[in-house]
Amino acid sequence: MKFKTGTPLDKLLDGGIDSDSVTNIYGPAGSGKTNICMLAARENFRNGEKTLYIDTESNFSFERARQIEPKFDEFMKSILLKNVYTWNDQREVVKSISDVENISLIIVDSLVALYRMEIDDENYQSINKQLSTQYSILAKLARNLKIPVLVTNQVYSSEGKIEMTSRLISKYWPKTIIELKRTHGDNNRVAIIRKHRSLPEGRFVEFEITSSGLKEIGKFKLF
Ligand SMILES: Nc1ncnc2c1ncn2[C@@H]1O[C@H](COP(=O)(O)OP(=O)(O)O)[C@@H](O)[C@H]1O
Ligand SMILES: [Mg+2]
Repeated sequence: MKFKTGTPLDKLLDGGIDSDSVTNIYGPAGSGKTNICMLAARENFRNGEKTLYIDTESNFSFERARQIEPKFDEFMKSILLKNVYTWNDQREVVKSISDVENISLIIVDSLVALYRMEIDDENYQSINKQLSTQYSILAKLARNLKIPVLVTNQVYSSEGKIEMTSRLISKYWPKTIIELKRTHGDNNRVAIIRKHRSLPEGRFVEFEITSSGLKEIGKFKLF
């Protein structure tokens, strides 16, 4: 079962993100992660469904929501927006996800921003465990209730021990991993499959960020 996101990811992933697992989108700032999250929520709204949207960086933009969905007020009513400001808040919110009968899509943008602020050389083992716990809760919700879960991760340049552990956790739990990158031009991006259960790694799609959403450029191919 797949969930159509209403973005170029649908073509890349032969129909959409898997409804029974966690999909992880990672890339640098400005690569389009939040755009994809908001557009997936819009698609869910257009299907008459509700989205739980956990926003850890106040990145959800009402102005952007207005641009992408003419029925702005109704769109906003379809979103259960949870703003979290600390790692502990985030842990609580993820732990207490309930009333899932009403929700058919879960988004966490970003799963690791507050984690990054919390973790240090002393506490990294317990904080990493807490990150794994959140992934595990989300993976279970997806698997048992067939609720697609979309999470985002940033990329960092440092290669320290903490960094490696968080990467291993974020590689292990999601069944699908998509990398986003800027290409030529201000608004052009590429989405590349980095992990998938049934599709080749390296398959990619190029797209443009426009005022109304994301527009595919050309055809995808293997490289
Ligand atoms: N209306 C728009 N037209 C063109 N580009 C836009 C528009 N709105 C936002 N963008 C571009 O989208 C990018 C931000 O994307 P976003 O999804 O927030 O990235 P991320 O979440 O990966 O940091 C910025 O480069 C911004 O210029
Ligand atoms: Mg963002």
